[in-house]
Amino acid sequence: MRKKIIAGNWKMNKTLEEGKILTSEVVNMAKDELRDDVQLVLCTPFIHLSNLQTMLADSTVALGAQNCSNHASGAYTGETSAAMLQSIGVDYVILGHSERREYFGETDFLLAEKVDIALENGLIPIFCCGEPLEIRERDGQQAYVQQQIEESLFHLSDEKFGKIVIAYEPIWAIGTGKTASSDQAQEMHAAIRKQITEKYGEEIANNTSILYGGSMKPANAEELLSCMDVDGGLIGGASLKSRDFVDIAKSY
Ligand code: 13P
Repeated sequence: MRKKIIAGNWKMNKTLEEGKILTSEVVNMAKDELRDDVQLVLCTPFIHLSNLQTMLADSTVALGAQNCSNHASGAYTGETSAAMLQSIGVDYVILGHSERREYFGETDFLLAEKVDIALENGLIPIFCCGEPLEIRERDGQQAYVQQQIEESLFHLSDEKFGKIVIAYEPIWAIGTGKTASSDQAQEMHAAIRKQITEKYGEEIANNTSILYGGSMKPANAEELLSCMDVDGGLIGGASLKSRDFVDIAKSY
């Protein structure tokens, strides 16, 4: 059965001290309050990963990065490779977040390379997809998301695709306080699972975790997470507060 995953995307927030406090609060609350079939993941800025990995080593909370290079190594000033992330014990990597697509020009084809290199290095990609408002307004969201998935993921073998986590994040819901309704989320998640079924078959599709992201918070988490095809959340703002983040995971 597919995993339930609640992943926090800290984005470019928290100093090291603040990040350590948040991490230790999450670890302690998770230990006392959470069912053990919900996987928590903290996706932190690169610079904190090594420190936080030491803190998470004995916990059930996993560690994620927010990006990696599409190159293996070499003269790429300022970049971080998948092998480096793997070497310090990172488990997951967010790829294709809409902020990276928009502000850093990441394309579906570049993301296909990043997915490959992440998998080669034993990282689990959390592959983000999602449509902007103008596409939603003309009801083009399914074709838009399907193209993102097809171009970045459908070159993978069955075995490799089986390792992917997908996060559907409608851009109009990110950081806006506007969430997709549970009907809108379920409709898109079911469409994504159908697309995966058609390409990779039912078993792989049923085992793929598809997370929802976009203004998820304790007040709306239960409704979203109760949808049949919503297997967890990718949380931005609410992951910066330990109580809110763990409360979202408790909504299961
Ligand atoms: P918010 O939860 O702040 O809307 O952000 C969602 C997101 O972008 C997670 O990757």
